[in-house]
Amino acid sequence: MTEPLDWRAQNLKSWNTRTPLHLASAFYDLEGWKKGACSLKPIEIEEVGDVRGLRLLHLQCHFGQDSLSWARRGASVVGLDFSDAAISAATALAAEAGLTARFVCADVYSAAAAVGETFDVVFSSYGVLGWLPDLDAWARQVAACLRPGGRFHLVEFHPFLYVFDEALERIVYPWDSPRESPIHTEENRTYADPETEVKLADVSWNHGVGAMATALLRAGLVLDSLREHDWMPCKLYPGSIEVAPGRYRIEKLLGVPLVVSIAAHRPA
Ligand SMILES: C[S@@+](CC[C@H](N)C(=O)[O-])C[C@H]1O[C@@H](n2cnc3c(N)ncnc32)[C@H](O)[C@@H]1O
Repeated sequence: MTEPLDWRAQNLKSWNTRTPLHLASAFYDLEGWKKGACSLKPIEIEEVGDVRGLRLLHLQCHFGQDSLSWARRGASVVGLDFSDAAISAATALAAEAGLTARFVCADVYSAAAAVGETFDVVFSSYGVLGWLPDLDAWARQVAACLRPGGRFHLVEFHPFLYVFDEALERIVYPWDSPRESPIHTEENRTYADPETEVKLADVSWNHGVGAMATALLRAGLVLDSLREHDWMPCKLYPGSIEVAPGRYRIEKLLGVPLVVSIAAHRPA
């Protein structure tokens, strides 16, 4: 008999392994951030807007760089992630930068109970949904973390990107994975550090834009906007072309959406 898949333990192991490499990576440029550079990208800055005086929850916050960028912009921030390595690093980074923020180590599926308060803004971005098998349960947590009238902002890589093989040539994965058919991948490098060899085994699911929006609607949120963008704010793929400062397209995927952003709110 095969063992049931412990996707959470497997992914936690890989995120704890990635974290120290990411902290030291040129991709995250923590030294630049410590000198004042903002890690947030134009899409979320424009969509989330002025956060001064707002209580903001950052779900799947990794080591807190974006969370603390929101804190620098005046929000009162809580960050949540299931990686103990990431949350320790986030807490240390806040102290080093002299910023006030609370970081909570918990699974996103128990976010509401773990944070114990509601927020004006819940935010989550870039590489978050693929780790989650069940978007309905995720969206219920998002809704439960919002105060009535509070806003949710998701900025995520577009599912179009995730259907391809590594060479971006053949379609090998569904754009919307059934829960019972996760995608198993083994990698020798993390995206933020192409130099260091490291063994990573991940379990993930692709989610279509329709599934994202429908989960939020089923959780009782009202959709305010759903936008698709034909550029991404980082150089993640081979063949990336910088079409404007900080805006990248991918040579083999010109003319397709690379990022999706969704804004929704909890009815007052
Ligand atoms: C790609 S990162 C987040 C991206 C963020 N924009 C960044 O680059 O800093 C994905 C994060 O999701 C977290 N994560 C994955 N599965 C999770 C889960 N079930 N509950 C909470 N956090 C999870 C990982 O630990 C990781 O920090």
